[in-house]
Amino acid sequence: MNNPAFQNVLPAQRAQPEALAPAVVPSVEQADADAFALPATHEAILMVYMHTLGELASRLTMDSLATPTLMPRYASRTPTKELRYQAELAAISEGWAERDPKEVIDALILELPDEAPLSPASQEVPPNEPSRLEQYFMSMLPDLSGVSVDYNRTGSLSPKESINCLRDKVRTKLFLQGIAEAVSQLDTATQDTIEVCDAGTGAIPVMAIYAALCSDKVRCTALELNPQSAILARRVVARFGLQDRITVIEADATKYTPSKPFDLLVSETMHSGLTEEPIVQILSNLQPHVKQIGLTLPSSIDIQAALVPFKEYEEPQHRIKILKADHAYLAPDWQHVLCYVPGRQLDKIAFTLDGTDLPDGKYVVAVTNRVHIGSKILEPSQSLITMPQYVMDFGGFLRKIEFAAGANHASEVNVEYRPGGSLNGAAQYK
Ligand SMILES: C[S@@+](CC[C@H](N)C(=O)[O-])C[C@H]1O[C@@H](n2cnc3c(N)ncnc32)[C@H](O)[C@@H]1O
Repeated sequence: MNNPAFQNVLPAQRAQPEALAPAVVPSVEQADADAFALPATHEAILMVYMHTLGELASRLTMDSLATPTLMPRYASRTPTKELRYQAELAAISEGWAERDPKEVIDALILELPDEAPLSPASQEVPPNEPSRLEQYFMSMLPDLSGVSVDYNRTGSLSPKESINCLRDKVRTKLFLQGIAEAVSQLDTATQDTIEVCDAGTGAIPVMAIYAALCSDKVRCTALELNPQSAILARRVVARFGLQDRITVIEADATKYTPSKPFDLLVSETMHSGLTEEPIVQILSNLQPHVKQIGLTLPSSIDIQAALVPFKEYEEPQHRIKILKADHAYLAPDWQHVLCYVPGRQLDKIAFTLDGTDLPDGKYVVAVTNRVHIGSKILEPSQSLITMPQYVMDFGGFLRKIEFAAGANHASEVNVEYRPGGSLNGAAQYK
């Protein structure tokens, strides 16, 4: 059994907010398998159980957790021996090691899809296989000895989770294309070095590496909170021979003070609706260090929200798979609620949805965003960072709205949450 409603309410965090006491949790594969084997009558209980479990697991550090994190969207086998072996085979058969890395990457970016494929909800969603770009970078992963790919420092992603972001193909394509566009623009505009900052560079610092390959003038400061990811990132940079041009620094990008201004600031430390991850805090800290003629990616983020008929949420017509989990594909009437521009002061995200003219029925509140990356736009549902998130109540239950019949019953929903925070309990209904 493959119940989409169950999948929709799995917790969505990429970040690890804080440490709690250790607990024994099953692996996500086991949890998924168990869940789908249960009869329908047990699903409501299971939903609550899984949500609570997910919340718990998202608060555990890898220091205290022997099993992989319970992150349905990130839990995967990356970088297993098998994936690395496949990557080595591809590297040998393609002769990647003998070719110019920029040419290889450019060709492999073009192979990435422009859109995440939709599958009819009635059919099994095919697995999201690694792209050849992922394989190429995986083949450049050096010896992992001495590094824990599961290590998770509070607030960061583990090395494994950050590597898994490469599987988010449309996101990866648009960010890399945005970087090429920005560096080319800066290359034409200046004879001097182009100072780049990649804030949240990950264990495979794809964005920093690609920026450096786009122009010899680029010097890059790559910031990473997770110490194990920072170690791996340095090793990958050395594999590309870029250690003189990319400096990987283990640092919290929300607090780091650069010694010189940047021409280009890049940060993919965000989650849908600007929840869960610290991009707003990172850009607040670093945007003042971007030169006046400098560029920032993402260039802006449009937050959108909608009242989604519960029926569509429960039984979506299509699904989409970005990493491991299936997501319901919804196309409600998104309403623009806020345009976030890097560096803008943003202490809370607050808006009201008006349901007065909607047909009677039950609705859920969904939040997403469109991400502007230079001239490119990452649309809702095309990436984990634009996948609609649902407002839940504090207990982890999906809060439904029941609109009263008749045109005289105004039905408003006020939504308010902190950037980087959770959507749980974010809605109040009138
Ligand atoms: C979504 S991953 C992106 C990795 C890589 N840049 C990519 O796009 O594939 C975000 C990375 O930012 C790191 N990160 C999160 N918060 C951070 C912070 N405050 N300072 C520095 N790095 C941070 C995470 O540990 C993770 O490695």
